[in-house]
Amino acid sequence: MNRLSTAQLLTMSATITLLAGCNVQTTKPDAPIAQASLSSPKVLVEHKDPSPHGSGNVTSDVTEKDKRDQLQIANKPDDVAVLVNKQNKLPANYTPSDLVEPNVPFIFKEKEERRLMRKEAAKALEELFNAARKDGIDLAGVSGYRSFDSQKSLFTYYISVQGEETARQYSAEPGHSEHQTGLAMDVSDTKGTCAAEDCFADTPHAKWLDKHAPEYGFIIRYPKGKEAITGYNYEPWHIRYVGTDIARTIQREGITLEEYHQRKTELTKK
Ligand code: DAL
Ligand code: ZN
Repeated sequence: MNRLSTAQLLTMSATITLLAGCNVQTTKPDAPIAQASLSSPKVLVEHKDPSPHGSGNVTSDVTEKDKRDQLQIANKPDDVAVLVNKQNKLPANYTPSDLVEPNVPFIFKEKEERRLMRKEAAKALEELFNAARKDGIDLAGVSGYRSFDSQKSLFTYYISVQGEETARQYSAEPGHSEHQTGLAMDVSDTKGTCAAEDCFADTPHAKWLDKHAPEYGFIIRYPKGKEAITGYNYEPWHIRYVGTDIARTIQREGITLEEYHQRKTELTKK
């Protein structure tokens, strides 16, 4: 694992070429979007005023609009179990303080922020990929960490192409993406076949991940059949680090991270 200095990080994020990541729909008539997303929407983001690193527990970011929308702000954004979804957003300017580049293959060559994950998650990703390789499954990273600004560019782009209602089924509003936590990685085979596309579900790679990811602390965050709970389409390529205890529980119980948190809250009330 290569630890990156703040200076390197800022250089990497100064000009970011965004890849679609986990946001592509492939069913017709959207196939051209998938194509375009993987090659051309090179959204260049100038980070003139980079966010401070390591915001810790920030709780005072609730705006009037958040109150109206009944949004919760994650008060422990550095917790590996943090719940980030349509109802729970990260504090303003949240940037993880321990982003590193995992020593795994990626489907792109550029040194960009999307290679990064938080240190603990990056180590677990290396272990996951090594175990997969031993089983004949060669995995590669597609899209990891995304800053608030990168997510904003991506989300705005998808809305401009597909309209807001459709875009929101697969792309998170800035501040609401797990990619901003540094705990998520979109993965594919090393050739990038079906990278962030529905056809990934039918690959041996997706099947291996579904079975083994929890052994290394990852969950398939947006499972099939749970769209009403997660708020997003099925994404067999989006893995989220939560640690092995929680990941195993979620797999054993067949629940989502939302349901895991809900159960925990109910238990503490008793
Ligand atoms: N595709 C997931 C929901 C994201 O945009 O973070
Ligand atoms: Zn994703």
